[in-house]
Amino acid sequence: MLYVVSGAAGFVGSNLTDRLLSEGHRVIGVDCFRDYYDPRIKRRNLSRAIARKTFQLLELDLSRDTLEPLEQAIGSRTFIVYHLSAQAGVRKSWGRSFQHYVRDNVQATQRLLEWCKGRENLQNLVYSSSSSVYGNVDSMPMREDTSIPRPYSPYGVTKLAGEHLVHLYGANYGMPWVACRLFTVYGPRQRPDMAFSRFIEAAMEDRPITIFGDGKQARDFTYVGDIVEGFRRVETIKDREVINLGRGERVRLLEVLSALSEILGKHIEVEYVEDQKGDVRDTWASVDKARKLLGWEPEVDIFEGLAGQVEWTKTLSKAKSRSVSG
Ligand SMILES: NC(=O)c1ccc[n+]([C@@H]2O[C@H](COP(=O)([O-])OP(=O)(O)OC[C@H]3O[C@@H](n4cnc5c(N)ncnc54)[C@H](O)[C@@H]3O)[C@@H](O)[C@H]2O)c1
Repeated sequence: MLYVVSGAAGFVGSNLTDRLLSEGHRVIGVDCFRDYYDPRIKRRNLSRAIARKTFQLLELDLSRDTLEPLEQAIGSRTFIVYHLSAQAGVRKSWGRSFQHYVRDNVQATQRLLEWCKGRENLQNLVYSSSSSVYGNVDSMPMREDTSIPRPYSPYGVTKLAGEHLVHLYGANYGMPWVACRLFTVYGPRQRPDMAFSRFIEAAMEDRPITIFGDGKQARDFTYVGDIVEGFRRVETIKDREVINLGRGERVRLLEVLSALSEILGKHIEVEYVEDQKGDVRDTWASVDKARKLLGWEPEVDIFEGLAGQVEWTKTLSKAKSRSVSG
């Protein structure tokens, strides 16, 4: 099968791309290497993929570039789109930078959908949504049939707008789609602005870890390998479903810190700062629907997954110090 992965150079997109390639599929990766974090990290994420003949990279900005190169690369072949490109991150979505969220999460999604509509060779479009669409809910766990999701951050609003766009293109043009609401993803290649990356790096360098709020807030942390497995299963669902992909467990940040301290075998110093606007108190996914429709069961628990991310970070920093000294 031929796949188009938007956001292929990012954290989740590059993990998905590697998985598709390892299964023997062809992948066209689309990314414009935004500098929200160092684009060199994104190039590194794609280093394995780039070495394969079955991978093609299109450096396109979906919010403004012509999609003619995509047209040419696909030709008349059937294909599936995984739409993961986005401006991620809750905290930076306030103020002037909101325009970047509108550009990359709303405008780019609308342009991609315009390009997709009416294409008979499109088998499915998988939209990467977020638990951020839920906001602070009255009853836990968070279920897909929540009547009107009320995001708590500007980022969440743009991800929900993307869901609405996908929905309305499906309703008007008969386009197949499925949307996955991802819950805090972690593991190898995690974005440097995300909590586990910051925690691991600070702890390895014996710097104090900054925690926003009291550390008792909980997240449903989900290992990237489990997310990729969920994505692989979801593409067969064509009847326009919204599906949570989360581990289905609430873990407090303070519990993460004690696990990290055990994994690294050292005491970790914590600095508490004011909680951030837009951060919800807790997230917790109901995964009943994913279990039922996909037969999906997240396999990696927080200790194992965190240890995996620590190992990956260590390997990376060894490679960096070798290249500096070499
Ligand atoms: N990481 C998480 O915990 C998490 C949780 C919920 C939802 N998501 C969603 O999953 C997806 C992937 O997230 P991630 O953490 O891998 O983010 P990421 O920032 O690592 O990857 C996103 C990629 O999209 C690219 N991009 C942005 N705008 C683009 C545009 N206009 N045209 C082409 N490329 C563009 C960026 O350069 C980047 O490489 C996003 O849609 C995000 O909203 C992620």
